[in-house]
Amino acid sequence: MLNFIYDNKTTLIFGKGTQHEAGRLLKPFGKKILLHYGGGSIRRSGLYDSITASLKAAGVEYEELGGVQPNPTLPLVYEGIRLCREHGLGMVLAVGGGSVIDSSKAIALGVPYGGDVWDLYLSKKQPDFEPLPVATVLTIPAAGSESSPNTVITNEETRRKLGYGAPALRPVFSIINPELFFTLPHRQMANGVSDMMSHIFERYFTRTLHTDLSDGLCEATLRTIMRNARILNGNLHDYDAWAEIAFSGNIAHNNLLGVGREQDWACHAMEHELSALYHVDHGAGLAVVTPAWMKYVSPRHRDMFLQFSLNVMRVEGSCRETETIIREGIARLEGFYRELGLPTSMEELGIRPEDFPLMAEQAISVRGPVGGLERLDAEDVRNIYRLACR
Ligand code: NZQ
Ligand code: ZN
Repeated sequence: MLNFIYDNKTTLIFGKGTQHEAGRLLKPFGKKILLHYGGGSIRRSGLYDSITASLKAAGVEYEELGGVQPNPTLPLVYEGIRLCREHGLGMVLAVGGGSVIDSSKAIALGVPYGGDVWDLYLSKKQPDFEPLPVATVLTIPAAGSESSPNTVITNEETRRKLGYGAPALRPVFSIINPELFFTLPHRQMANGVSDMMSHIFERYFTRTLHTDLSDGLCEATLRTIMRNARILNGNLHDYDAWAEIAFSGNIAHNNLLGVGREQDWACHAMEHELSALYHVDHGAGLAVVTPAWMKYVSPRHRDMFLQFSLNVMRVEGSCRETETIIREGIARLEGFYRELGLPTSMEELGIRPEDFPLMAEQAISVRGPVGGLERLDAEDVRNIYRLACR
């Protein structure tokens, strides 16, 4: 196990009716806030009315900015920065999913920063200033941004989708009420499940030895997600299944499962190029890239993939060849994605092979070869994209 420091400052307020606590929880910060949200789901569900009523009841002053789109983009971030500066807003309340939360974090970074906030996504330089505090009301369990230190923004002009992380970006608190997920379309449930599973895979598949506890926590969380996703697959109004999924999605990316071990992150780097060029849903892109990556790297990491196939995918292991067990483990994962209606090939996403060279070059352009389990250069990435074709 590697040395580590684990510091997660995000307070979780979890359960039924918790969205009504937003105003009371924000009041002690003593700041005028920016209420930031997406394209309309919170108005249709009535959540917008609950939140604004709670803010007014607590005497929290706010300005608002809606319109965040999935795979959030820079122009709205700049608009949010401008609004905060103009009205002296000192905090951002994100009401939405990963896209709204990431856009909020970008605004929180940009307001006190002297230059163009996009420069930070390019340089990865840590802030030498204090970003505005961000709080969230989560409406889709998926990205884990509600307690991660990360933000992912797309620059449509340069067709780049880049992440940035700094400890100060972890939200101060996040409200998670599983009842708010009842209005999610089936597709977004499946996307979220795929994303949170990938956040665990990125940590689980490692070269680090003596990680028994975090291995076991990863495996238990993956099994919990799969079991409860199957319940939601038949009934999107099952509170208990959503509660299990939401708790798992949070643990999947608050980095408790990643401490003390080298992490991978090749699949996320490869997927971000799919989203940047083709605007595909992040979870859908991951369902295509992940099994291909597993097929490509597993022959050189048989012990890890055997453990995954036996302990997560529950492949029957006695008297069988290791290769067969691993192949079946990966096939079962693909089968699970298909059960949820997720795509498992580039063709289903409409991605053209002639773009693979550009996507592969871009995937390795920021930090060089991707992946911790295995360092993948542009040729490896192209090969994996090809393996993801039918
Ligand atoms: O915009 P509205 O109308 O709210 O609709 C949203 C959006 O269309 C809808 N939705 C959300 N909650 C709903 C709802 N519809 C009905 N009922 C509700 N309760 O769902 C759609 C998708 O929302 P989005 O926020 O884009 O989804 P998600 O949470 O999956 O976020 C994806 C983004 O997060 C980034 C991804 O790259 C992508 O840009 N990620 C962020 C990470 C982080 N900050 O730590 C890590 C992840 O790996 C990921 O990269
Ligand atoms: Zn993700």
